[in-house]
Amino acid sequence: MKLIDHMPRYERIWLAIGVISIAVFLVILAALAIGLGHTPATHANTIAPDQVAVPPPFDQPRLERTGPNEYQAYMVAQMFSFFPGEMRIPKGATVTFKITSPDVVHGLFIPGTNVNMMAIPGLVTEFTYTFKKSGDYPLICHEYCGVAHQLMMGRLIVE
Ligand code: CUA
Repeated sequence: MKLIDHMPRYERIWLAIGVISIAVFLVILAALAIGLGHTPATHANTIAPDQVAVPPPFDQPRLERTGPNEYQAYMVAQMFSFFPGEMRIPKGATVTFKITSPDVVHGLFIPGTNVNMMAIPGLVTEFTYTFKKSGDYPLICHEYCGVAHQLMMGRLIVE
């Protein structure tokens, strides 16, 4: 005799509902993943990790003014520093951060803001934020990246 024959009717019904629900969720997940091209959840571009230092823009990590109160920050996170390590912007400036890594996975977290990114070898991660409050913001690596991870910091001064 099979186990299912011993089950009360309600238990069989609930078991069937459970199995069908899981199947439906998996189908939705697969459809979304395939439909969206299975890319990371950022505006990610690829870059070969050994090519980070060669072609522009990441050969010269920098903060670039792109418009009235608009900036692009081309950043490289590398064991155990951010490049550029210090940036200055006026209050109210909108900064688009583009960050990558030539070695291991790092993070870029700016406390008190929504900036919470990952610097991944092979990808360029992008995020835009408007700094409405002036202050001295630390740039913090919040992905464990090696022995000096806790010392990996930078600075963003909003004047
Ligand atoms: Cu870089 Cu932790």
